[in-house]
Amino acid sequence: MSESKILALGSDHAGYDLKQFIKNELIVQGFDIKDFGCYSPDSVDYPDIIHPLAQEINEGRIKRGIILCGTGIGVSIVANKYPGVRAALCCDVERARLSRRHNDANILALGARFISTDEAMQIIRVFLETEFEGGRHQQRVAKIPIS
Ligand code: RB5
Repeated sequence: MSESKILALGSDHAGYDLKQFIKNELIVQGFDIKDFGCYSPDSVDYPDIIHPLAQEINEGRIKRGIILCGTGIGVSIVANKYPGVRAALCCDVERARLSRRHNDANILALGARFISTDEAMQIIRVFLETEFEGGRHQQRVAKIPIS
């Protein structure tokens, strides 16, 4: 399977139902989903799910990920602790497109309490299909990590 078809997926309890929906849809579309949890709607702490997922992205073992919590904020904060992660919290298709074109985002964060399943799948489709523009954006992205 090509690297672009392998996706890391993770959520806390607030994102669980939407994560399960997304997982099933993407499997039907031929994606290989690495599910980091959670595995039930029972309450969990989002850092416990997102640290292992973000480490896989940071170390280049998986190229793209999708993470969810109630707002998308907590999971974004955790994922962006890693220098090789650019997690973008997107609440619409246009921001998903620009997060790829301008920021080369490698993780999409979603706020499960604020979007419908249809909106989520549209945002995901655009996130996964859009290429990084490079050029002037490459030099900006290169300046993001702190040593
Ligand atoms: C859980 O209630 C909620 O706080 C969490 O999913 C997330 O939104 C935190 O940022």
